Amino acid sequence: MRSFISSIISVFLLGINIHASVYKGQKEYMKKCKVCHSSGAKLSKSKTMDEWIQLFSNNASKLKKIHNKDKKAIKYLNSERFKKKKKHLLDFFKKYAADSGNVPACSD
Ligand code: HEC
Repeated sequence: MRSFISSIISVFLLGINIHASVYKGQKEYMKKCKVCHSSGAKLSKSKTMDEWIQLFSNNASKLKKIHNKDKKAIKYLNSERFKKKKKHLLDFFKKYAADSGNVPACSD
């Protein structure tokens, strides 16, 4: 019984965690990516979850490659700040990916 209760609690906490991460990722997007990309919801929806995971894997090397010619973007993608936030950004993109089934609010 105890383990049953603790597993319910951990699932609950995990849910809160993911929610918080998506929110942090969205905030980071607004601050750092939106200048060039406008709607984060639209960008999220332009790729599937797998494609997002690919872009962010291997220290986001694919994402860096795409921004190769853009000095400002590259500077951010190579920063310590991005290193810390990329997990949240990925959670945000996965949440609203093309195959996620989630439709963000128009204001996102
Ligand atoms: C200084 C401007 C700038 C910033 C900041 C920037 N990007 Fe980009 N991004 C570009 C340009 C330019 C391209 C290439 C042109 C295009 O395909 O839209 C691009 C392309 C992309 C693509 C590929 C789009 C596609 O259709 O395949 C993705 C994904 C992307 N950016 C994600 C991000 C994310 C995530 C961030 C924030 C962490 C970010 N960008 C920040 C300028 C920027």
